[in-house]
Amino acid sequence: MKENIVIFDTTLRDGEQSLPFSLNSSKKLKIAILLEKLGVDIIEAGFPVSSPEDFKSIELISKNIKKSKICSLSRCIKNDIDISAKAMRFYKHNSFRIHLFIGTSELHIKHKLKKNFKDILEMSVQSVIRAKKYTDDIEFSCEDAGRTEIDNLCFIIENVIKNGVTTINIPDTVGYTIPLEFSEIIKKILNKVPNIDKAKLSIHCHNDLGMAAGNSITAIQNGARQIEGTISGIGERSGNTALEEVIMAINTRNDILNFKTNINIKKIYNTSKKIIEICDFNISPNKPIIGTNSFSHSSGIHQDGVLKNRKNYEIISPDSIGSKKQNFNLTSRSGRSAIKFYMKNMGYSEKEYNLNKLYKDFIKLADKQGRIFNYDLLSLAFTKNFYKESEYFKLINLEIFYKYNKENKILINLKIGKKNKKKIIFNDCNVIYLIFNLLKKISKINIKLKNFISKSSIYKKKIISKVNVTVIYKNIKFYGNDISSNFIKSYTLSLIKILNSIRKYKNIKKKY
Ligand code: KIV
Ligand code: ZN
Repeated sequence: MKENIVIFDTTLRDGEQSLPFSLNSSKKLKIAILLEKLGVDIIEAGFPVSSPEDFKSIELISKNIKKSKICSLSRCIKNDIDISAKAMRFYKHNSFRIHLFIGTSELHIKHKLKKNFKDILEMSVQSVIRAKKYTDDIEFSCEDAGRTEIDNLCFIIENVIKNGVTTINIPDTVGYTIPLEFSEIIKKILNKVPNIDKAKLSIHCHNDLGMAAGNSITAIQNGARQIEGTISGIGERSGNTALEEVIMAINTRNDILNFKTNINIKKIYNTSKKIIEICDFNISPNKPIIGTNSFSHSSGIHQDGVLKNRKNYEIISPDSIGSKKQNFNLTSRSGRSAIKFYMKNMGYSEKEYNLNKLYKDFIKLADKQGRIFNYDLLSLAFTKNFYKESEYFKLINLEIFYKYNKENKILINLKIGKKNKKKIIFNDCNVIYLIFNLLKKISKINIKLKNFISKSSIYKKKIISKVNVTVIYKNIKFYGNDISSNFIKSYTLSLIKILNSIRKYKNIKKKY
């Protein structure tokens, strides 16, 4: 029989406190609803004493959440506990949880709280007694447990359990421990605390050394039964345990992890995406499970292996977490198998094009351009003078006259085909749309601007501006990028690259 692991989400508390701005109550409620649908057992809704808006958020969440249990954080201070209970008073589905915490390491006791261990013990016990007036579900966290002397840790745990604590949480607050060490702490607590069977053991890891998921997994292997974390690992400094990582570790390594959770893993991808968006948080492309590269394969050997059997290079199917199908990046590291796969997906059998020639041209273009898209592949396969055609639209000159609070004046000199030279001067305030509309008009290609990203930096006293543009043409996304000393020039060149790609693509008889 698989043992259940309780999933405790603290995106709205530990996660939110790390964002550069606080989330208002309506955003917090949206996130809580998403977490509930995902199947999270406990939602830590906030730290209500910190601000009236956070108090309001917890009230709102308590009124609207029915399946997940609601929890509120309190220091071991009377007023915090009373406010937590008040904020959750509308939660009627079950008993709400009060989460008490206090620093237990020597460092925290002496240098943060300016107290001694006896004071901490007394404050802890008195707080548990107070919280007990409001609920029978009390969690107690020994903050900085990872660096707390083990006998002190066990002593305080024993005493708070005696007074009614039902969940003991062991936070590695500063992400200091490493897996073997953390599992020893868990084992010692289970062996040394005589009444530990009266409480559930929980862990709460931070990721400063990149150990959060590893420490959480080793902790459940050694007896912990609740994992705390956040979606995508949002949290103080390098973040908390990313819940999607530990949930998928449990799911994927079922052969040695005899556990289950109540999470609906099909919802992991969409839930994370939405929460990240609400939090306006960026995750790196190689973020496990939900990063844009998590199911992308780039090297030719890998792509070939995945096409033969996806298990060769994929331990999780994207579909299982509700993500779109696996994706192959077409770069100069790709091989013939990936090209054939893409061409087949677009409706072309190998008889309809010359694979060897296409592969050769593909590598040449990929080395130059970095990444190849569907439309490039088609143009390569079916355009006679591919490289000549690439220069159909060409920027000859670009001059920008900018006056503060006045209209901009832009001069573009564009070569179109062999002979047509056009020189156009225009006035407007929005440079991005001005250039876009101008090029759209000159090229007679009906494009829509979808996205524009510009990054500038200084290198050896020179400005370097990188621009990525996405444009929609007949429901297909076309991408262009360029780099120069001026973002408007980079942007214009990116758009011109796109126009050339569309022009080639337009001239091909398409099947898809
Ligand atoms: O990291 C930590 O110690 C915490 C506690 C409040 C549980 O977030
Ligand atoms: Zn924390």
